[in-house]
Amino acid sequence: MNKILLVDDDHASVQATAALLEEEGYACISASGAEAALELAENQDITVVLSDVNMPGRDGFWLLEKFRETHPNAAFILMSAFNDTEAVVDSIRRGASDYLLKPAKVTSMIRAIERALAKRRIDLARQRYQWKLEHTVRERTHDLEAALRRIADAYEDTLLALVNALDAREHETAHHSQRVVRYTTEVAEAMGIKPPELDEIGRGALLHDIGKIGVSDAVLLKPDRLTASEWSEMREHPRIGYEMIRDIPFLAVPASIVLAHQERWDGPGYPRQLERQAIPIGARIFAVADALDAMTSDRPYRLGTSFPNAVAEICRCSGTQFDPEVVGALASVGEAPWLQIRDSMRPSDPLPLRLAPEAPVFSKLPPTVPVPLPEDLFTRMARAQLGLEKSPVPP
Ligand SMILES: [Fe+2]
Repeated sequence: MNKILLVDDDHASVQATAALLEEEGYACISASGAEAALELAENQDITVVLSDVNMPGRDGFWLLEKFRETHPNAAFILMSAFNDTEAVVDSIRRGASDYLLKPAKVTSMIRAIERALAKRRIDLARQRYQWKLEHTVRERTHDLEAALRRIADAYEDTLLALVNALDAREHETAHHSQRVVRYTTEVAEAMGIKPPELDEIGRGALLHDIGKIGVSDAVLLKPDRLTASEWSEMREHPRIGYEMIRDIPFLAVPASIVLAHQERWDGPGYPRQLERQAIPIGARIFAVADALDAMTSDRPYRLGTSFPNAVAEICRCSGTQFDPEVVGALASVGEAPWLQIRDSMRPSDPLPLRLAPEAPVFSKLPPTVPVPLPEDLFTRMARAQLGLEKSPVPP
């Protein structure tokens, strides 16, 4: 049943109005002032308020404002003894449903109440419709976001599976590609690079050698030194990789990294002999991260060196092989993150080590002392890890 709250300091008039309205089937409660009305209405479902404007203490406008907060769905009708047009306009602007002149006839009151109730029903229906619409939009947005996340995850998983297959074909150490991705993004973050560029650089690092799919087994897996023609086949892999993924829209930036990942800061890299800033930043960062992983990973013929040794060696090549700014970022990271990344990705079944007697056992050296190695051997081994030449140490 619709509950009407009557507010007027004229007690006799309120009682008379309440009796008449109850006869018309409304339930009425009453208060003699604005503050008392607010208190009375607390925790009650009031459908319509019929309030005098001028009362001792707070007036009807004050009650209207408070009621909008506490009972936003209640219809509010103001009544005043004065024919004040400004007050009528003001009360409607503040959210009143209607305005009646006192003394109001009961029929006028009932008509005003019926109009207010009809308007209230429409407002409530509109609110329900809007809520339902918003709820549906939220649900659909959530579903769409989940679907997009699943598609993105499926893309990433597909790329990862492809790269793992390539690593396995080349007998790469387990987790090599994922480790290089983590090292690359760590250095990129140290340089202040943020998503989404950070993710694109990570994807470029993951896919860097994807073009090796186009290099024959005879060349890729050849244990001996490559001939000149075999080298030119090998040196095609950045371009093959680039051609493979260049037309995939979300891999545009990674494709540029794939193409440039064998370039060198000072120019003699391949395939385009780019120099300095002409090499995409992602490729410059990858080059440093890949060297770090190559030098610190165990191989069948030698143990990896410590991170401080590898960083020292990369610093030595700053300004020649590597971008000095990237090397600076690498050196600023400290050893802990590298160890954390490598340890989180240790292969469950490590490769068996076959140490050649002449192979340097880097990991047995104190971690902070640079390795005193003959430069030509170290450089040749580092180049072998970078894929620039075959290892000087027989497998
Ligand atoms: Fe490569």
